[in-house]
Amino acid sequence: MDFKHSPKTKFKDVRKLSKKAARRQIEALREGIEYHNYLYYVQNKPEISDATYDKLFRRLQELEDAFPELRSRDSLTQKVGAPPLDKLKKMKHSAIMLSLNAALEDEEVRKFIDFVERNTGSKQVTYVVEPKFDGFSVEVVYEKGRFMYGATRGDGETGEDISNNLKTISALPLRLQQADVPSLLAVRGEVFMHRKGFQKMNKQRIERGEEPFANPRNAAAGIMRQLDSKKVADKPMDIVFYEVLKVEGYDLSTHWDTLQKFPRWGLKTDEHNRKFMSYADIAAYRSKLIDSRDHLDYEIDGIVIKLDAYDQREKLGTRQRSPRWALAWKFPPKKEVTRLQEIVVQVGRTGMLTPVALLQPVDVGGVTVSRATLHNEDEVRKKDVRPGDKVQVIRAGDVIPEVLQRIPEKGRQRKKKFSMPGKCPVCGTEIVKEGAYYFCPNGLSCPAQLVGHLVHYASRQAMNIEGFGEKTVKSMVNSEMVSDLADLYRLQVEEIIELQGFAEKSAKQLYQAI
Ligand code: IVH
Repeated sequence: MDFKHSPKTKFKDVRKLSKKAARRQIEALREGIEYHNYLYYVQNKPEISDATYDKLFRRLQELEDAFPELRSRDSLTQKVGAPPLDKLKKMKHSAIMLSLNAALEDEEVRKFIDFVERNTGSKQVTYVVEPKFDGFSVEVVYEKGRFMYGATRGDGETGEDISNNLKTISALPLRLQQADVPSLLAVRGEVFMHRKGFQKMNKQRIERGEEPFANPRNAAAGIMRQLDSKKVADKPMDIVFYEVLKVEGYDLSTHWDTLQKFPRWGLKTDEHNRKFMSYADIAAYRSKLIDSRDHLDYEIDGIVIKLDAYDQREKLGTRQRSPRWALAWKFPPKKEVTRLQEIVVQVGRTGMLTPVALLQPVDVGGVTVSRATLHNEDEVRKKDVRPGDKVQVIRAGDVIPEVLQRIPEKGRQRKKKFSMPGKCPVCGTEIVKEGAYYFCPNGLSCPAQLVGHLVHYASRQAMNIEGFGEKTVKSMVNSEMVSDLADLYRLQVEEIIELQGFAEKSAKQLYQAI
């Protein structure tokens, strides 16, 4: 029975199989399907049709349903998700999951190279250079080639068991290929979502009235820490591997060799990994990658430079949180040009007025940006941006997008200069100026400040009122159900039901939460 090469898909009725025969077929199917997964996801060279694959997969499911005692935690049927958990179990890592020291400037990178050469005592050091994936870091552990568990990074020493969620990722093998595998292999990799999948998912979230994720990294983190793995199984998650955390029963002496072994075992690596021996080559690689960055289907925010030889790594050792043998060389933040449509003034929790640019939506490194802060009036004056202007927008990682500068256009008629309003745009109260800043002095009688205040009060860092987000706060304030903090505690379930999007159950839940 071999389901690897031109597999047969005509099967006997499961009821006619003895347990022994079922076990043999299940084993062969698991091996076969795992192999086809590997061909498809790692090699990109499938040998059977989707229909044949589905038949094999369904047969395995059918057999496991008929013989539940033959189910196993590393069976591919786990890829469709498991029953939800109450909470994620804590997991101690096989080795500390360190973070990387980051450099932005050439000078810091040169220093790193000098440091390495001095401390290894060699001028002929080999470096492995990889993209720095902007995803969610995980540990995955295989014993005798079988998936055992996977965990989030957590604080580096202890993470959370997300095995059920990881198992649903198609590109993650539950069994390693080849007989020649370590007895224990703990690897580190990055879970991420392709740009297209991310955009599609966010569109669906918006349509369903849910909050969209700010970027693919947040999406990956949010999804991978779910308690219900079925909600992970339907998301287009992917994974790449880039480091060994612990290995037993196998000799690995350089990182480059490890990266060659990974795909043979079925662990996907990135196609941009390279080996270099000089700063100049590393810098050239980085420039090329910056140029091709936008054509990649996933987000990267830099490159990682790593010492190749494991014995040299050991010689250099680690600091408290990061290894001395590796350095992340970050990319400069992403910039895009778009048109500024309008400047609106936002009133914050403290009453402070902030000018905000409403932009023609533009994709800045995989995230659609349609608003950007202009900080304060002086900034707007200095940058001299006006509605209708062409502007450059910058987004650095998590940071709120910002209007960097105006792009002058010859012969274009410009609109009037911006100035702060004399009255609060929300409540109409006369504005007061304190230094460079403008405030609405109306306090909680200004609906914008009341909303800001309530959102802050309900936030996780404060009262942690679950299910009481900005949208709900706004509609309560707008319908004048609350006009100060104390009003929250006078709310009745019947009133909450009246709000848009609420029904009896959700209203009761919010009432309880308050
Ligand atoms: S190696 C000790 N390689 O960057 C070295 N990390 O703090 C362990 N990351 O959270 C990390 N791409 O998740 C390594 N090619 C790569 C990486 C990478 C992304 C992440 C990692 C970590 C962060 C650095």
